[in-house]
Amino acid sequence: METSKLQSIIQGIPKAELHLHLEGSFEPELMFEIAKRNNITLPYDSIESVKEAYKFNNLQEFLDIYYAGAQVLLHEQDFFDLTWAYLTKVHSENVKHVEVFFDPQTHTDRGVSFDVVIKGIHRALEMGKNELNISYKLIMSYLRHLSEEAAFETLEASLPFKDIIDGVGLDSSEMGNPPSKFKDVFKASAEQGYKLVAHAGEEGPSEYIWEALDILNVERIDHGNRCLTDEALVKRLVDEKIALTLCPTSNVALKVIQKMDEHPVAKMLDKGIVATIHSDDPAYFGGYMNENFYQTATALNLSFDQIKKLAINAFEASWLSTPEKEKHINTINDYFGSI
Ligand code: HPA
Ligand code: ZN
Repeated sequence: METSKLQSIIQGIPKAELHLHLEGSFEPELMFEIAKRNNITLPYDSIESVKEAYKFNNLQEFLDIYYAGAQVLLHEQDFFDLTWAYLTKVHSENVKHVEVFFDPQTHTDRGVSFDVVIKGIHRALEMGKNELNISYKLIMSYLRHLSEEAAFETLEASLPFKDIIDGVGLDSSEMGNPPSKFKDVFKASAEQGYKLVAHAGEEGPSEYIWEALDILNVERIDHGNRCLTDEALVKRLVDEKIALTLCPTSNVALKVIQKMDEHPVAKMLDKGIVATIHSDDPAYFGGYMNENFYQTATALNLSFDQIKKLAINAFEASWLSTPEKEKHINTINDYFGSI
């Protein structure tokens, strides 16, 4: 199929994004603008040189640059601008629902208070709901390279904002920081009414996915690429309809896979796994939702039925209510019926 035809089909699909780190949507142009107004000097002299630095061999090399970039965010307006830029971008890609991560500790550890961070993000999400018709859920992620005690402090700091935080997640350096390290804080988070997800099996082994399910009791796995090496785990994911929020351009950028045609998403769909596609850190990995769909569809030669399934799976796996899910899924079915 012609490039432009497939791109325009993907553009038209109503989409849900369930795996997006707001700090990872920080485009260099906005980073420079905010650095300037906050009188911070970036270690780059141009936007081109920033983009030049975005070459990674693994997750840790990316994280070092990602945390450095986030340091220019100081004021509520900065967090608003970051979130609003993301929402306007995905609005242009026909994204209808987002469930976004933020990393409180990346900011509170530098002296920026929890309420500054969340108020900026929340104001933009509300504006996105009202002006762009994008519904949202907000997920607070614990940084797994830090201690469980530090995660408990973050949980405590979040409590005044419990009503606007829907769930907790677990991100950052995976190897050597298994889900089990956060057993108690995930239990305490659930007791506060938070839903649970965790990054697992991105660089780490399938055992980390088991731990996320059995020890943390998460309802969705972020990434989960490594599950295919373990048949019993695949069966569990299928039987319990546990969704995997996959991020194909991220996987190539961080060398989780060497080339897009090695991506496991098609095999996962064949096995009946609720696989979904998202962008992770699009400012760093060079692709928002459409690009992730497009690159995956072309490299793996996905059929329309597979593309449609991926789009529907994301709404199924979302935290929307059943009627809201049905509304979006009906729209996707109508759309594919019309092309
Ligand atoms: N993996 C783990 N932690 C992260 C990521 C990721 O892809 N992006 C932002 N924090
Ligand atoms: Zn992620």
